[in-house]
Amino acid sequence: MNKEELIRGLNDDLAAEWGTIVRYTYQSSKAVGLRGAELRDLLAKEIPDELGHARYLTDVITDLGGDPQTQPKDFDKPSDIKAMVELDLKMEETDVHNYSNHAQMADELGLTGVKVKLEEMAADEYGHARDLRRILRGL
Ligand SMILES: [Fe+2]
Ligand SMILES: [Fe+2]
Repeated sequence: MNKEELIRGLNDDLAAEWGTIVRYTYQSSKAVGLRGAELRDLLAKEIPDELGHARYLTDVITDLGGDPQTQPKDFDKPSDIKAMVELDLKMEETDVHNYSNHAQMADELGLTGVKVKLEEMAADEYGHARDLRRILRGL
């Protein structure tokens, strides 16, 4: 375990956050009609959370001596509302997993503040996943 490995991991997380911000903005425009209304509202509410995550990661990567990622991770663009929600849920669950792993790495490096913040971000993503699961049950 070394600092470079953590920086690489956090940069992957950052690319995922930029991707999520772009994907949620894109999907909230494409989620039309009554079936799309609930998803549109939810995504609009969650975009500021993801932006907060991206800003934190940008700062912490810089603090650790790395160069923060500015390219969003690419994503699929299903046109069906249910497929959108399924994709978003899968991505949120992946984010929970990655933040938990990287919190552990930060802990091993003695970076307690980073560890705690990454755990909070894992909890945020867990909440997003729960909200998406609720929508999915109604589709
Ligand atoms: Fe996020
Ligand atoms: Fe999220």
